[in-house]
Parts: sequence; structure tokens; C-alpha cells
Amino acid sequence: MKKADEIFWDSGVIESDQSTFVPYCGKSLCSLTDYSWSVDITTNKGERAQASSFFETGFIEEKWEALWIKSPYPMKKTKRGTGGQNPAEYFRKVFQINNEKIKRARIYVTCHGCYQLYLSGKRPDDREFAPEFTLYSKYLCYQVYDITRMLKQGENVLGLIVGDGWYNSPNFKSRNKKFKPEHAVLFQMKIDYQDGSSEMILSDDKVRISKSPILSSDLFAGELYDARLEQSGWSCSGFDDRSWKKGILCNKFYDNLVVQYGEPVRPIKEIKPKKMYISPKGETIIDFGQNLAGVIRVTSNLTLGTKLILDHFETPDKYGNYYNNIFLAEKTGHNQRDIYISGGNDAVYQPHFTYHGFRYVRVICDETVSIDDFTAIVLSSDNEDLGSFETSNKDINQLYENTRWSQRSNLFSIPTDCPQREKAGWTGDIQIYARTALLNENVTPFLTRWLRNVTCNQQSNGAIPNVVPLTGIYELLEKLNRFVYGNFTPVGEAGWGDAACIVPWSMYQMTGNTKILIEQYDTMKKWCNYIIHTARNRKGKMKLPKEIDQYLWNTGHQYGEWLIPSQTVDGVDKSASKRINSSVYCAPIFGWNSCCILAHTASILGFTEDESYYTDISKKLKCAIQNGLIDEDGKMPLDFMGAYVLAIMFDLVPEEKIESVAKHLIRKIEENHDCLDTGFLTTPYLLDSLCKIGRVDKAFKLLMQTNCPSWLYEVKQGATTIWENYISYKEDGTPVKTSLNHYAFGCVDDWMFRKISGIDMSEPGFKKIVIAPEIPDSFTYAKRSYMSEYGQITTEWTIEEQIFKINVEIPCNTTAVVKMPDGSIFEVGSGRYHFES
Ligand code: BGC
Repeated sequence: MKKADEIFWDSGVIESDQSTFVPYCGKSLCSLTDYSWSVDITTNKGERAQASSFFETGFIEEKWEALWIKSPYPMKKTKRGTGGQNPAEYFRKVFQINNEKIKRARIYVTCHGCYQLYLSGKRPDDREFAPEFTLYSKYLCYQVYDITRMLKQGENVLGLIVGDGWYNSPNFKSRNKKFKPEHAVLFQMKIDYQDGSSEMILSDDKVRISKSPILSSDLFAGELYDARLEQSGWSCSGFDDRSWKKGILCNKFYDNLVVQYGEPVRPIKEIKPKKMYISPKGETIIDFGQNLAGVIRVTSNLTLGTKLILDHFETPDKYGNYYNNIFLAEKTGHNQRDIYISGGNDAVYQPHFTYHGFRYVRVICDETVSIDDFTAIVLSSDNEDLGSFETSNKDINQLYENTRWSQRSNLFSIPTDCPQREKAGWTGDIQIYARTALLNENVTPFLTRWLRNVTCNQQSNGAIPNVVPLTGIYELLEKLNRFVYGNFTPVGEAGWGDAACIVPWSMYQMTGNTKILIEQYDTMKKWCNYIIHTARNRKGKMKLPKEIDQYLWNTGHQYGEWLIPSQTVDGVDKSASKRINSSVYCAPIFGWNSCCILAHTASILGFTEDESYYTDISKKLKCAIQNGLIDEDGKMPLDFMGAYVLAIMFDLVPEEKIESVAKHLIRKIEENHDCLDTGFLTTPYLLDSLCKIGRVDKAFKLLMQTNCPSWLYEVKQGATTIWENYISYKEDGTPVKTSLNHYAFGCVDDWMFRKISGIDMSEPGFKKIVIAPEIPDSFTYAKRSYMSEYGQITTEWTIEEQIFKINVEIPCNTTAVVKMPDGSIFEVGSGRYHFES
């Protein structure tokens, strides 16, 4: 690896099959510097290959010279709904370049709010929502732009539009007094010239500020844009900014600044409407045919002052009219409404600092609009796509596509629960879905960034909040939970806080990445200590003997199983207490699971003392579960499907009770007519637990079920994303107030990957692969490809005239065991193979 001609690291020839996560062992890197690297490979067959790439560093030891500048316009008290928030503002700095021979120019930028950057009228890239959503008080990203080709000799202008974003959102704004609502910017430009000289352009009191045509922008309510207030050429040279106000210097922190890690949010697809129709109420409605997260781009030539209102929504009511399915939207103002007021010219408008969860849009306008004027812009964190899946069953294909769409919609700067109602980093949702997310996209950097925020948000007693970043109304909710819990210390909940262990562990399993385990180790350990401490120090409700009770984490504030179908009415819990009671089995088992993960992690990282301590404590927790939760007849304290699922899945059932626990699970399923009755926390394990007791047939029965509640019921109802609740419509077709775009139940894709495509592993990161497809009745074909860290893994099987044929692709530096349906087994190295049986 080199900096210009200086070699920073020469590994020499290394004989190894480690082709992933090789650590850098060279000299320390310098700030704001370009590096290039190349790698030469010789295979064991004598073939050679070479590749090279480059990267650059951000601020390492270098200090920021730029100053934080804030807007002189006071932030007004906000009101709910479109138009109730603060206007976005233009920030502008003019600077001269006298040397025409520019070698390299970079700008490092961040803000309080969200910004779009312009250089002399042009944006350097298409990222949106910079600096993204993090725990700003401890972790604020800055972005780096290569602007070498955008600068010119003479006058140049740097422009920023700054809107409210998460920083100033009523839902998310910090309750920390040091982080009051404001629009403020920080930028530092470094220009290197060919003659060896260099120059800095900094944010300082020369920055001028004006209000913009964006009169209000809010992540939930939407944007209000008045094109009559546009100031043509505001970010170009020659513009007269004398009426603009001077920026105010503010003494802000630099310690929380970190370079952006992971792909930015970008427009990733465009979708044209499927149809435009007039609803029974006479509304003009556009259907894009796909539920998604994003915005509408509209082209218009309306007369001056004409209003165009776009109301985004996920589903019409049962008659086909506009319907807002957001719970309590009337109170919260989450109306997903964008308003454009025409400047009287041909225009293209796309909202700047809001996004919506929608498939439909109601258009309100006094003038005629045409379907061709509208395009849906799909927005998402632009992670690399890792695979595809296709079978001979079109419903299963649709289920897979729905999962992918919910993933796109919810990997949006942070892992969110849904794009329309909350846009919040619920920890439970991502721990449920992490393995599937890793299968479909390269989310290692994305999840790494989020986990760093989990660490920032961990409380002093080790509790991990339910939502990360924990800000705004969720901070209040957390305080309320402390109150309910009774002793005012921070609380963490089973299945949510466990994300601290499950997410890094899933990342390690799927990629072989031990770096994330090293990075997260202290956070994981503090979380497990919190569990152990809470179990020990609070008496459980079950009145068990102390030697059992002290090892059962069934105390503290808990959510329990979320959205168990039989426990909900109209999309919400029938009785919160019943749901919370389900924590009697969820909490001890999730607590035990986290401690086991920690013990394994300690062993992988060579922390022997911790390994033996947490192995020992895991054994005690397991023993307490066996003696305290599973009765003589193999019954769990609550006769819920999920209770049996967890006990079986995690091998917690003593040998002599396995048969009876298995019978209870099957009984619960059959009493429920082979439909689903597991909530968020146990669904990921449902089909696997059936396979474990030898009932693959039942697992497929549940997967292929089309009656409600089931995965394919949603598909048959025309779902294009995964619903929050299988029961999202009443029997008469009226939508209930839940979201239609929650990825949690899409976790079934992980099972389909392992069972239908048959791709599994016997060593983390697919170092050792197991290929063993299970063939569902009536399927004749399945093909899946997955770009693992080692390279492409593919299985493609067909059944033709009773002959099972499979093509398999195994990447370099891995081996595979291929198990055929007739029982024959083949052991292979990397390469492409064909087998028949
Ligand atoms: C969210 C869920 C979340 C849950 C936890 C809901 O409002 O949408 O996805 O996990 O709250 O209680």
C-alpha cells in the first residue's frame, strides 16, 4: 500500500486461504491523504491475478480549522402537520481562486439539520439527507466530496440548503440542552495546487444566509415549497446577496465529528405510475403499484400561485378512497403531505428534506394534471445488492420481492421499523431481521455505523435502549418505562436490547468478520451484565425458589412478544398485560442467548477468563429455564406457540421432555389450523424449530399457508412489502392502523435461503458450506445466488421427470459438502458442479 511513492505496507508473499477481513499491518496513516493499494494473487493451480484500488483518509490527528456558523433566523415554535415547521435556509460563501492549476480539491462538510451541497450551481453527487441520522451529541458524521473538477479560476460559490432533518424534528430532536434546534453548518475545503501550494476555504463569518422557498420541511409531515420565492442563481457567482444576513459564529463541538462510514442514502430506482383513477369520493389518485420509501418528482407548468398537494399513503380504504393508516396521525400531524406552489413556469419539483412510505398519492390541484408528470423516486441507503432468488412458485417469488422492498424501505440511514409512521431505530426489529438483511445486501458498514451508535447510547448500568439513536419522544418513552419499572434506573428489554449481542453475532456468522466482535465486545459484555444483575436483584412474579429465580431474567420492564396474531385486535394488542406476560418465557431465553453469544465471542477473541465466567453463568441460566419454565408435561408458563418454539430452537428442553414439548408445539399449530401465531420475537425461529423436531413437512405447510395469518395470505391480498401485522385489514376490507412496510416478518427469507436453496454453512462466513436443499411439494425449480465475502455461491435446481438436478457454484478458499435428496454426499472445493439424483 502506498502514499504517492512511499510504501506504507508491503505484506510480502503470504501463503494463506484468508481472503477476507485481512487486517492492515502497515505504518500509521496520515490525515486527509490519498493512498493506493494493490494485491497479487497466485492460486494453488498457478493462476495469477492482480487488482488495485485507492482510498483517502479524513481527519485523524489534524484539527478542524473551520468554524460552526448558525443561521441568524430564530427557530419558531413548531406546529404539527405540513407547513408547521421551520423554513429551510440557504447558506452561501463566495471565494476566489487565483491559481488555475488545481491538483486536488476536497470539501469536508456537516451540519445541524440536513443539507444539500452546491458548488457554483451544481451538486457534487446525488446523496440525500446528509449528515444522516446518528446520536449527534456523540457521533456526527461529516461527508467528503471530491470537487477537483468543479472549481474554476476566479469567483466560485459554495452553497448549502439546510433543512430540519432529524436534528430538528419534533420526533427526534435531542432533549440535551446543548443541542438546541438550529440550522448550523461546518465546512472545510482544501485545495492543493500543482505547484505544491495549497489553500483552505472555511466556514466563518463571511457565510451569508437567507430563507429559501422551502417554507417548511419535516420528515413525517412533508414539505411546503413556494416556487415564487426562488432566488435564481443563489449558489452561483454574480448573485447579489447583499440583502442576506450574516451567519453567526457559534462555539460548537468537534469531538463528536466522525467521517461518514457506509453508503449514503441515494435515489436507487425510479418508478412510473401504474394508473391514475378517480376515487368514489371524486379524488384523483395515482397508484405506483409498489409500496416504497421515497418521494415524488413532479414536472409541472401550473399558473403562478397554483397549489399542487400530494398526499402519500400506503393503502386506500375499502372503497378505493384516500386513507391515512398512520396510528394517531390526526394528533401527530404525520400526514405525509407535500405542497408545491407554482412559480408560474415550467418546473421540476422534488422534495428536499422529507420522505414518505407510500404506494398511492392523492393529488389535489385546481388545474389538470397528467399521469406522465409523476415519478416515484425510491430512496434508500445505497448498500451493495448481494443476491437474487427465483422459484417455480410465483407466490414465494413475490414474498421474496416483498422482503427485498421492505429492506430497501427500512435501511434508511439507520435500520428503521417503518418508513411512514415512526422511521425509528427500533432495536428489536433489526435483531430479528439482521441475518436476512446481510443475505440481501452488504450491510456490514451500515450496521457497523449503527452499532457504534448503540454503544454511544448504552446507559451506565449497561441497559440498551429500545430505540437507537435514542432521542426526542423515544427518550421520553424510555423515561416512562423507568417509571413503570419502579426504580428510575435505565431499562433494557428482552428481544430489543439483545440487539447489542445478536446483531454483531449475525454479522460475524454471515461474514466471518471478527472485527465487529472486537469493536462491540465491551458493549455486549455490559449488556449481559445488566441482564444478570437484573435477574439477580429483582424477584420474579412466578414465586420460584431463589436458586432458580435469581437466574431467570423475567423481571424489569419488558415488552414481551410483539404482535402475536391471536393477541391483537385491529392491529393493536388486545391486552398489553397478556403480551407483557409473554416475557416470562421470552426474557429468560433471550437473556440466556445473549450470555451464550458473549461466551462464544470471548472464546473466539481469546478472553479466557470471560469465556469461563459467561459459559458458567449461561449454564445456570439454562438450568433455571429448564427447572423454572418447563413443567412436568412439557408445558411452558404461557401456552403460546412462540414459547415452545424458543425452547426447542435453543435446545433448552431436557431430553426426557423433548417429545412432549414438540407435541405442544404441533398442537398449538394444529389448533390454529396451520396458521401463524408467533410475534416478532419468535417468528425467526418458528420454521427452524419444526425442522429440529423432524417436521420439515409442517414447516413447509406454514410457509405455503394462504389463510390468515400467514406470509402468503399477505401475498394473496396483493401485498408488495412485508406488513407489520399479518392482519392488516378487517374482514370487510377496512385497513387497520398498522404499517404495511415493516421488515421483521420478512426474516422468513433467511429460512428459505437455507432450506429451499439449501445454502448453509458449517463455519462462519461460509468458509465451509453445506448445500442441502429440501424440496417443497409442487416446486420444480429454485435458483439463488449470494455474493458471500469469499465470492459467489449459487444453487440452481430443477426436477424433471423425477430427476433432481442441481448446479452449484462454490467460491475460492471455501469447501462444500453437497447433500442430495437421495442421501448421497459429495465433498467439493471451489468451482462449478452439476449433480443429479
Ligand atoms: C414499532 C415496532 C417496534 C415496537 C416495539 C412499534 O411501534 O413499529 O416495530 O418494535 O413498536 O414496541
